Amino acid sequence: MAPSAAEALYEKHYGGDRARRGLFDALARWCTPRRVLYPGSFLHVTASFVFPSVVYVDTDRTAKRFFASMDDVVALVARNKAYRQKPKLTFHSASYEADFDEPEGSFDLLLSLYAGFISQPCKRFLKVGGVLAANDSHGDAGLASIDPDYSLIGVVRGRGDRLRVEEDGLEASFEPKKPMTRTEASLRERGRGVAYTKSAVAYLFRRTR
Ligand SMILES: C[S@@+](CC[C@H](N)C(=O)[O-])C[C@H]1O[C@@H](n2cnc3c(N)ncnc32)[C@H](O)[C@@H]1O
Repeated sequence: MAPSAAEALYEKHYGGDRARRGLFDALARWCTPRRVLYPGSFLHVTASFVFPSVVYVDTDRTAKRFFASMDDVVALVARNKAYRQKPKLTFHSASYEADFDEPEGSFDLLLSLYAGFISQPCKRFLKVGGVLAANDSHGDAGLASIDPDYSLIGVVRGRGDRLRVEEDGLEASFEPKKPMTRTEASLRERGRGVAYTKSAVAYLFRRTR
């Protein structure tokens, strides 16, 4: 059977190693989030291969077109999923900085991957006690590290798809290699990550309040 247009689009952008499934697998071995929020997702539905219920948010027109064929997207996920239940996917064609229709405090896991400063506007959707998984591509992990509402509880390390969560030895995680003062304004202005002494693929924070 010929692949659907949605599958062809997914393969074009996320075929092979570009799917970065190892990150989601490592997270799923460490926690079992009931609801996952993925702002700035583009069409990275690899998250749904591992997590049964994911809400995607993006302003991109290609992402909107992809998720418009939701039956084909669900079929693609169903062929790749690692869990038994029916996958539940929702897409909001919206800015993650604006209002989108999800209850506040209803997500167990918030993903921030290569898509800007998500930790701040989307914090309200995360349960107190829920987890933010952020990389530092744009500096969002660094921003969360100086936000008193978040507490660093782990890092994801490893190579390729062989990743694992580490919960010990987190102290030097946000020690810049070159001396600098990190403030919200300076990190936002910089717009890209800082070189830290001990870098990680992703950083895990608990929302504490
Ligand atoms: C580099 S892509 C990363 C996609 C995906 N997170 C990944 O890791 O493959 C960045 C995505 O963030 C989206 N984005 C950037 N700012 C956004 C905003 N304010 N609201 C919603 N989506 C946004 C862009 O449209 C784009 O699809």
